[in-house]
Amino acid sequence: MKTLGEFIVEKQAEYPGATGELSGILSSIRLSAKIIHRDINRAGLTQDILGVSGDENIQGETQMKLDVFANETMKKALIARGEVAGFASEEDDTFVAFDTERGRNAKYVLLTDPLDGSSNIDVNVSVGTIFSIYKRISPVGTPVTLEDFLQPGRKQVAAGYVTYGSSTMLVYTTGNGVNGFTYDPSLGLFILSHPNMSMPKDGKYYSINEGQYVTFPMGVKKFIKYCQEDDLATKRPYSSRYIGSLVSDFHRNLLKGGIYIYPTSTVYPKGKLRLLYEGNPMAFLAEQAGGMATDGVNSVLDIIPTELHQRIPFFVGSTNMVEKAKAFLLEET
Ligand code: AHG
Ligand code: MN
Ligand code: MN
Ligand code: MN
Repeated sequence: MKTLGEFIVEKQAEYPGATGELSGILSSIRLSAKIIHRDINRAGLTQDILGVSGDENIQGETQMKLDVFANETMKKALIARGEVAGFASEEDDTFVAFDTERGRNAKYVLLTDPLDGSSNIDVNVSVGTIFSIYKRISPVGTPVTLEDFLQPGRKQVAAGYVTYGSSTMLVYTTGNGVNGFTYDPSLGLFILSHPNMSMPKDGKYYSINEGQYVTFPMGVKKFIKYCQEDDLATKRPYSSRYIGSLVSDFHRNLLKGGIYIYPTSTVYPKGKLRLLYEGNPMAFLAEQAGGMATDGVNSVLDIIPTELHQRIPFFVGSTNMVEKAKAFLLEET
């Protein structure tokens, strides 16, 4: 039985020059995950967690109390350890530079979707937390700048998510495979339960909000029809599964094989999901597990970001399914 703490120390030892900063950040995330897990688990018993906060975030989304709480939890846990130089979040208007002696001298920045799947909070359906870590570009010793956050996903040094599902799991990569840890609340420990996770090349699930069908581009409509056709060789029709939490839909497809799609639509002409907080970290995990992520055609990790809250169309999952969707999109352009 190996704990996440032991695993982090073991991995750090494999890099003789490592300063322990990345390990410290991962420990902050582990602590945040435990706090968010605790509060989600008793959400129905208190007025503090369920419901709307009364505010909107800068992207015009209604903020739930848990969105705000998870965001503050992450920020506080990171500030307390002083291992990151800056923080950017779906819930904040702009990035935060941790402008203290330690913050200015830290090497990394962290980006997060602190609470993914907001619409599921009040109805006891699983939600998640997503994080993405980069080495800063600006000189150590100065406050971080916007360019530190606008790096292509290929530059990520670590990324992962926590899924607060039937059990709570933390899944992450540092660019050397993907490992999953299940939380044992009685011990307060994450235990390595899913070493070297690998996404099947083919899958049997497709995950997309089909209620929005009429708003989708023709290539996506045709791909959906393809998923529904009868074909023995490719084991179609595939099953439709859509939780409405990217983290949970991705997690299922990672384990079982499948594709998650949030395309452009007449409602969301640029797509809905955020490149920096959702697209890049999930794309990094997908590729590290042998899967694939595109904006329909191009690799998500190669996109050069231009703004913090940038949205993208997102296709992620089993390689052969993502390739198939791409072929349908290309046919229509
Ligand atoms: P968030 O709760 O962080 O804003 O993200 C919600 C995202 C994603 O998790 C989910 O798959 C998708 O939005 C659901 O959107 P629809 O309700 O439009 O299907
Ligand atoms: Mn949101
Ligand atoms: Mn999200
Ligand atoms: Mn969110």
